[in-house]
Amino acid sequence: MDVNLFLPCAAGVEGFLSDEVQRITGLPASELQAGRGGVALRGTWRNALQLNLHSRLAQRVLVRLAHQPYRDEHDVYRVAQSVAWEIWFTPNETLKVEITAQHSPLKSLNFAALRVKDAICDRLRDKRGARPSIDTAWPDVRVFAHLTKEDVTLYIDTSGEPLFKRGWREDKGDAPLKETLAAAMIAATGWTGWDEEGRPVPLYDPCCGSGTVLIEAALLALNIAPGKLRRFGFEKLMPYQAHVWQSLKQQAQAAEKALPAGQAPFIFGSDVAFRMVDFARRNAEQAGVAHAIELRGGDALQRMPPTATPGVMLLNPPYGERIAAAGVAGQRADQRARAGKPMGRETAQLAEGGENTDFFAQLASHWKKHYSGWSAWLLTPDLQLPGQMRFKASRRVPMWNGPIECRLFRFDLIAGSARTTPAAPPNDA
Ligand SMILES: C[S@@+](CC[C@H](N)C(=O)[O-])C[C@H]1O[C@@H](n2cnc3c(N)ncnc32)[C@H](O)[C@@H]1O
Repeated sequence: MDVNLFLPCAAGVEGFLSDEVQRITGLPASELQAGRGGVALRGTWRNALQLNLHSRLAQRVLVRLAHQPYRDEHDVYRVAQSVAWEIWFTPNETLKVEITAQHSPLKSLNFAALRVKDAICDRLRDKRGARPSIDTAWPDVRVFAHLTKEDVTLYIDTSGEPLFKRGWREDKGDAPLKETLAAAMIAATGWTGWDEEGRPVPLYDPCCGSGTVLIEAALLALNIAPGKLRRFGFEKLMPYQAHVWQSLKQQAQAAEKALPAGQAPFIFGSDVAFRMVDFARRNAEQAGVAHAIELRGGDALQRMPPTATPGVMLLNPPYGERIAAAGVAGQRADQRARAGKPMGRETAQLAEGGENTDFFAQLASHWKKHYSGWSAWLLTPDLQLPGQMRFKASRRVPMWNGPIECRLFRFDLIAGSARTTPAAPPNDA
């Protein structure tokens, strides 16, 4: 069965997702369109299942069922009623309709969503003799409607829970990255786990929190399908055939890579908060990759390289008040606070990057001294970070962490600091 698929992703990730979709489906680039916020392709139902199982970057896999011009709610109803919903699900399944819009002339999006829901229920009553119930919390079937100025597009979702939920996370920590964003960071670095000769390339996150970057890295290096542990929305849809799905899962399992005999872990994580290190350890065990990851407690300002072979550092460091730097830099802030500086002001300084500035200056000098040969990639909403570290970024990849615009900066830590600069580099707007 041929279908029009759309895979939404975070802004900035479209190019990486397009490459990933080609790798997973084997489709040529000419079959794919990477637009703002996602990738569209003409594929098969089997492709939809493969993409759910293997995509590390997509937020969902949607099947596009209608794309028509509209002027008012009556048109929206007519377009929704013309779709053959009866070949996708029965009235026994519960339904949820979600709507998004860009420059839609309609006054009430809620009302438009209601019209879509009515049209689907009316169509199923006519064709199958009953209306499905609505369940906004745990629906069996999700329909997405998107309105632009002129067109309405309707999708049926095949993923269910969004794909960043891999099924391994038990412990969240304070500010976990979404798994899909961690995977996008890894894609941007080009790290795959192995060099051209098949030797492992170390990866280290010195502010690892709940371990998202490390676990995504290990899943990639070991070729473990990110959707292996979870259920999907397509299991409730009529085209679903359990034996096709089982065989895709078996193929994925057969393609998993074991660590070579005697190979020590080459993915490393540490965090100043021991509680976080425990979270990361439990999460790695749940994900089945604990054997590839070595975790320690410790301050990033003091930790020495975890391995003699230089590799890639990849992190989203503490930022702002809520997740301010702890450890040595944090203690200094506490001491100053105890010495009489009002806490409110201290907190305000943190929020503006006050103590964090200290943290990053110290981190930079620690890395210059001890991490020669490593490349460090940092995701941050702070566009002034290279200036604070007195580093010159060799790459700046725009990425969105939810609604927050960020950059993934790359710094090459070269002996003698040829790539560092005493002056703050220009802002990279
Ligand atoms: C933004 S969070 C990282 C979240 C992580 N990527 C995840 O997905 O869970 C920043 C982390 O840096 C840690 N941290 C703060 N100061 C630190 C320091 N001086 N050394 C090492 N880790 C530190 C915090 O405990 C927190 O877990």
